[in-house]
Amino acid sequence: MTDVGIDGIEVWTGKLQLDLAETFAPAQGEEPGKFTKGLGLYASSLPDVYEDIVTMAANASHDLMERKGLEPEDIGRIDVATESAFDHSKPVSTYVAGCLEQVYDDDFHHANKGERKFACISGTQALDDAYNWIRAGRNRDRAALVIATDTALYARDDPGEATQGAGAVAMLIDEDPDVVAFSTEQGYGSADETDFLKPNQQFPSVDGKRSVQVYLARMREALEDFEAAGGDTHPDNFAFIPFHTPFPGMVRKAAGLGYRHCIRGTDVEEQLADEIGRQPRKEAFDGEDEYFEAIKEYTDSLTETDHYLDWYERTVDPTLDISREVGNWYTGSVHIARVSGLIRALDEGWDITGKELLVGSYGSGAQAEIHAETIQDGWEEEISALTINEQIDARYDLSFDEYEEIHDVHNHDAETDIEPRTTPDGEFAFDGWGRMGERKYTYVE
Ligand code: CAA
Repeated sequence: MTDVGIDGIEVWTGKLQLDLAETFAPAQGEEPGKFTKGLGLYASSLPDVYEDIVTMAANASHDLMERKGLEPEDIGRIDVATESAFDHSKPVSTYVAGCLEQVYDDDFHHANKGERKFACISGTQALDDAYNWIRAGRNRDRAALVIATDTALYARDDPGEATQGAGAVAMLIDEDPDVVAFSTEQGYGSADETDFLKPNQQFPSVDGKRSVQVYLARMREALEDFEAAGGDTHPDNFAFIPFHTPFPGMVRKAAGLGYRHCIRGTDVEEQLADEIGRQPRKEAFDGEDEYFEAIKEYTDSLTETDHYLDWYERTVDPTLDISREVGNWYTGSVHIARVSGLIRALDEGWDITGKELLVGSYGSGAQAEIHAETIQDGWEEEISALTINEQIDARYDLSFDEYEEIHDVHNHDAETDIEPRTTPDGEFAFDGWGRMGERKYTYVE
């Protein structure tokens, strides 16, 4: 069977930054270490006045199409994954196509457009839809454009405020891909949960502490389901393990528990037995509490071993480089984790062609998904074309007063009109409202 996967990627960050240690922490009366060490975040990307989910998505898509030499007729499907949509009926993909049609002679009238919603996991679900469409042979030699785009804003003073972010990841899904090919094996962990939701409101209602536990529980279920489907989870068999990253501290927790689960009964558990013993087995305990206490103790010892720390530094830490600087991009987060690992590999000159990734996606509400990906021959050329680190360095650094204003600009309930801090240059920009309340966009040369 022909491989199907990601043939090209482009990443677009919101053009403003909020420095968490220097600007946010003092204004909130918090220790900088809570953000930099506890959550693992240094800064948030935020959208300027003329940016939103459509401009970021269209800009990432335009860059991707230009780099891959594509015309609209080469795209048979445009799916946008977002949890920041501003319209309950008209999908964001129609706005994105409308933007792109301003700069191409041709149009997207024969492309199937849609919008995917399941919190942060919907980007991965849209990849899945594209994969299935191509595998079903309905693509007529055309590729799918999948875009994950979000302005991940929280209400002011919500504990989630420190984890905000804004950006888009555009991915081209095709046969014989240049970056990664998807595995057919998949695992799901899914349950009706109320950890994070937006019932007809812009900013989320979040039970933050519980959301962390739900993330871990669903991820574990997905891992077990992936194993049941025949998927390999031996942690040493992966170049990187990109997780959904609401903040790097969340991934630190998930990696420790995941590693413990995956080494059970393997050579790694044996190798570590002299140092920290073998993993407690449930059957050996009378009650659940004693078992949980013992397994927690084992996990704490495990994550302090050189063996684990070495694995984490090699396999997980590289996936967090971008996230640390941009915050949570919701639907895009797991996809910037993948990009981040690949950029690190390129910078370090690691030979990872043919190696595997194990990808852990998560969406509140709640569902986790695990699948594997095989790194393809063309990954280095694709990844070396990315400009995300330059974009991160070029962001305008907001003062706290400016941050408060920009948060209001993007708050649908606030009326604020301020000048942008940056200037659009060769990109799509928000350009006001149309007669039916639609948002309008212009390409600024
Ligand atoms: N130095 C070092 N570490 C410090 C510190 C300091 N000075 N002060 C605090 N810390 C540590 C804390 O010990 C804690 O670490 P542990 O969890 O390992 O104990 C960490 O910093 C955070 O501190 P708090 O738990 O006190 O922080 P908080 O309660 O104010 O906020 C949060 C944490 C609840 C996760 C909040 O950021 C939040 O609500 N975020 C939004 C929800 C979210 O992202 N959930 C993640 C799972 S759901 C998901 O993944 C979907 C999604 O994208 C939203």
